[in-house]
Amino acid sequence: MASNVVENGIIVSASEQDATLADRNTFATRVAGKGADPEKKALFASVTKRIDYTPKFGTELHGINLTKLTEQQSEELAALIAERGVVFFRDQDDLNNDEHVKLGRRWGPLHIHPLVPHNQNNPEIIVLDSRVSPPTRFNTNDSWHSDVSFEPAPASFSILKFEDIPESGGDTIWSNGYELYDDLSPAFKTFLEGLTAIHSSDIFKTLTAFTGRKTFGKLNDSEHPVVRTNPVTGWKSIYSNPVFTREIVGVTPSESKAILDYLADIVAKKLQYQVRFSWQKNSVAIWDNRSTFHTGVPDFRPYHRRGIRVTVSGEKPYFDANSGSQAKAWEATSNAIIAKQEAAERLKAEAQANTSAKTA
Ligand SMILES: [Fe+2]
Repeated sequence: MASNVVENGIIVSASEQDATLADRNTFATRVAGKGADPEKKALFASVTKRIDYTPKFGTELHGINLTKLTEQQSEELAALIAERGVVFFRDQDDLNNDEHVKLGRRWGPLHIHPLVPHNQNNPEIIVLDSRVSPPTRFNTNDSWHSDVSFEPAPASFSILKFEDIPESGGDTIWSNGYELYDDLSPAFKTFLEGLTAIHSSDIFKTLTAFTGRKTFGKLNDSEHPVVRTNPVTGWKSIYSNPVFTREIVGVTPSESKAILDYLADIVAKKLQYQVRFSWQKNSVAIWDNRSTFHTGVPDFRPYHRRGIRVTVSGEKPYFDANSGSQAKAWEATSNAIIAKQEAAERLKAEAQANTSAKTA
């Protein structure tokens, strides 16, 4: 009987008894973060510093210990991640494996990856170890993707912590799927909204053939809408990615390729949709896979990098024609920022006028 193959304390290939582990994966039964306080007062009461990476996308929070969140704070954090796409934390030394799993379980069932190596004691903890990973050309972490989009219940949130970081290199970049959708022309939006696409685990099938590794469960293919509604924010996002999306249904193969290449090209090239994060030891990033894309930057070898990820399974992806958009929701925030700037300018001008009057 075949047994688990273990490298560096990580199970890289299944035994017969582990060959159906990933078949336990289930859908989330509730939407974490939905209905949370829009101002997130409980969460921000503990935040000592907030750094927005761009006005719409990516936020770093200081003052939060991820092992000490109250129930209300964890719901507000889920909502913030859905709105901002990705939220970063530093110095999360307390987030050990048990706490990492506990945090993920607050938001839904944890995904068991059918192929990526996992912790010996817990199949829900996957280990991204550059010494164990197969050759770079098979890695999904250096190509734009949304985690496990080939699954019937793809990831809502991913929680990634790096415990060993390279001396240089090894950043991760995220791109905003809401904004990609929002900037398309109305005619192209309407066209895409009627479409679905097949997301496949072909890349992992190739990998198993190449390495001889045994999977921890079925390598699924799934059909998902090309435009997806985020159930927390109610905003539309593009939901196709170059690693897992094989083809668009109902169009010719060449049309499918042209559309998928076009969308992938925007994800990779539009710098205004992106944020880049430089990891430090015990940094944590949590992102919403329903509305973002990410890629690792494979520039750190020969240095070693070792990360721990817990992935939360979400709902069945859906498209609701009546859902809103980040662009629409952004109008009010944008107007408030403009009003604040104008008020500050007026105060400054008044102060200058007063000073001039006194010195005249
Ligand atoms: Fe990923």
